[in-house]
Amino acid sequence: MTSPTIDADLRVLPASHPLQAGRTSGSALVSTYQGVRGPVTPVWMMRQAGRSLPEYRALRVGTDMLDACLDPAMASEITLQPVRRHGVDAGIFFSDIVVPIKLAGVDVSIVAGRGPVLPHPVRTADDVRNLPELDESALSPISEAVALTVAALGQTPLIGFAGAPFTLAAYLVEGGPSKDHLAARTMMHSDPDTWQALMRWTATITGAFLRAQIIAGASAAQLFDSWAGALSLADYTAHVAPASALALSRVHGLQYTAPDASTRTVPMVHFGVGTGELLGAMHDVGADVMGVDWRIPLDEASRRLGGTVPLQGNIDPAFLRAPWSVLEAHVLDVLARGKAAPSHVLNLGHGVPPDADPDVLSRVVRFVHDVAGEGHAAAGAAAGGSAPAFAGPVA
Ligand code: CP3
Repeated sequence: MTSPTIDADLRVLPASHPLQAGRTSGSALVSTYQGVRGPVTPVWMMRQAGRSLPEYRALRVGTDMLDACLDPAMASEITLQPVRRHGVDAGIFFSDIVVPIKLAGVDVSIVAGRGPVLPHPVRTADDVRNLPELDESALSPISEAVALTVAALGQTPLIGFAGAPFTLAAYLVEGGPSKDHLAARTMMHSDPDTWQALMRWTATITGAFLRAQIIAGASAAQLFDSWAGALSLADYTAHVAPASALALSRVHGLQYTAPDASTRTVPMVHFGVGTGELLGAMHDVGADVMGVDWRIPLDEASRRLGGTVPLQGNIDPAFLRAPWSVLEAHVLDVLARGKAAPSHVLNLGHGVPPDADPDVLSRVVRFVHDVAGEGHAAAGAAAGGSAPAFAGPVA
């Protein structure tokens, strides 16, 4: 099999790609990401795959997290689970931001309840020089998992993702999760050349990871700069934004022809936690859509972005365990404020907590879909209703 991931010069998506073949180009998700507001607000949830689902917990028994990510059949099945169960408008590829670090040959594991841990943190100029190059053929389990998944998803788009260089560098320098990312921010200021070299390395590997997913069939992608909120705007702009732009440049040129014969690129979402002050700068690195956490309302986020940028967000995950009437009022508020933006994809303000009730997640999805035509009173009544539809493969 030829590996599409190593085709560094590819500019046009393959004819079989769901966007190019017309299966997902008119989907609610893709058109909303492209700024077109449809009758229904599309919805998916960060971390919709994972520990909140009993079927995920059952499948993962005995398999290490990163091994699961590198088993194409398992990664594909886990990606499909929440689409089947909740009827969300997109799958998000099941993987992890540290997968390309592992595939490059760096020792990293994911510790349950903690996150990524690296036994040998990257702290010095030599450490950075010794980081291995990523042989892009190592990405073939990713391409294979994506291909399996989009074949099963049919008209439902798959969202690919990658970690942004800063968030990856934060793990590499700290050696694990950290609250304030002090070691990473210290390197940024005390040894800017080493920092830049590290950012170039992370941008290269994460850009390759993103590109592999898109070429293999993802119809949109999200760059997670989860911990960029630890940075001042000045530091983000000077020391981080160029590397994020470099990572996105690996996928910007990938084009397809839409059913109306226009040439389009694959929509890119950019998201971070606590990044209200950085929204404009994060948009400027080359994002089409901004993901917003729960700390600022969507109308304020839209104002900060000049009212021209499609938004994604931002249900506060804390509401998922509140009484339904409280959650419902919050969802309606998010939908109302989302109207300030040109278009809006509903999501959480960060990931689904592991203790979330999956039935509540399904109910939110049904509620958002039903709110469109019927008004929210009717939608509330319908919320106990039928099982979500799974688009399934097209023949
Ligand atoms: O459903 C989805 O959103 C897709 C899958 C996905 C995972 N990780 C699976 C996962 C995605 C998009 C990610 C991205 C990711 N990984 C980010 C950015 C998103 C964010 O949350 O801000 C970050 C910072 C990581 C690093 C990471 N990996 C953390 C912090 C953790 C959680 C540790 C824990 O146990 O609480 C992981 C592990 C991880 N990634 C899990 C899942 C489903 C849990 C692993 C398990 O089941 O034990």
